[in-house]
Amino acid sequence: MSKEIILTGERSTGPLHIGHYAGALLSRVNMQNSGKYKTFVIIADAQALTDNADNPQKVRENVLQVALDNLAVGIDPAKSTLFIQSQVPELTELTFYYMNLVTVARLQRNPTVKSEIAANREKFGSSVPVGFFTYPISQAADITAFDATVVPVGEDQMPVIEQTQEIVHKFNATYGETLAMPRGLVEANEKARRVPGTDGNAKMGKSLGNVINLGDSADTIAAQVKTMFTDPLHLRVEDPGHTENNPVFTYLSIFAKPEHFTAFLPEYKNYAELAAHYERGGLGDVKVKKFLNEVLQEILRPIRQRREEFAKDPGEVMEILRRGTIHAREVAAATVARVKKAMKLDYFD
Ligand code: TRP
Repeated sequence: MSKEIILTGERSTGPLHIGHYAGALLSRVNMQNSGKYKTFVIIADAQALTDNADNPQKVRENVLQVALDNLAVGIDPAKSTLFIQSQVPELTELTFYYMNLVTVARLQRNPTVKSEIAANREKFGSSVPVGFFTYPISQAADITAFDATVVPVGEDQMPVIEQTQEIVHKFNATYGETLAMPRGLVEANEKARRVPGTDGNAKMGKSLGNVINLGDSADTIAAQVKTMFTDPLHLRVEDPGHTENNPVFTYLSIFAKPEHFTAFLPEYKNYAELAAHYERGGLGDVKVKKFLNEVLQEILRPIRQRREEFAKDPGEVMEILRRGTIHAREVAAATVARVKKAMKLDYFD
């Protein structure tokens, strides 16, 4: 039986953080290592430009950062294809043909596009770039170029995958069975899908100062944990505490495994016991934060070390991307040939 194909990735707009790790990267590495899939990881620099047209230097620099983050968590170029979107022009070509299969009204109704336009109001004003508006079509090209059937994404991206499904359906109905039908896959662990900022804000963002990046130093992680928000009503140790909307506990529920308790806080067996004590009262924030710091240090140390190893030789990382991109182009070119034949654009064959 042939393996299922995965296509996933991120825009090169900044280094990746623990939210990406819990919500996407950990499962990505596990799926890669399961041997059940052929995995493509796209570094979406062209898509990053759709709302960063004025900042090409940022988009370029972050291609290396995103590559380092993927390699650091265990994406293995011997098993997965890591490539740069803009260097696969076949994706742009597919996008142009798919544009005929999507209406302006349908894009305007896409919830992802709608909410991202709302979130970018300051940047865009009332004039949204066509490239941004149409990025779901380009994402359909990314997915279909590789015949991907499994597309791991964040929940917020699901409407983009649904739009891809519509494009595939329309293409196949119009031009004959040509494209593979993909399905979106969100992280199975519901809590891990939404890691809040260290300040409890629903979103982690560099500008908010509430992130813990995968490449952060041990000191930076410790400092971030120290300043984390907890329960504002938990004033004295003996007061009953709230674990809900308390980012320290949200992080622990996602990241703390029984082996972390055994190693660093053996008086509790697991998260449930710790949370129960906090809610009862008698457990101080300092102790809980100290434990969270140990947990995060334990998880991030090997990632940071691998990242630093790869970062010593950026030329070698670029070589990994170059080889991945060559392979990606070969695969995408075969799809474009199929697409053009189906559309009767194969004049010289
Ligand atoms: N939209 C994704 C992000 O915001 C990046 C991306 C581009 C992507 N093309 C893709 C994700 C195809 C999954 C499949 O980071």
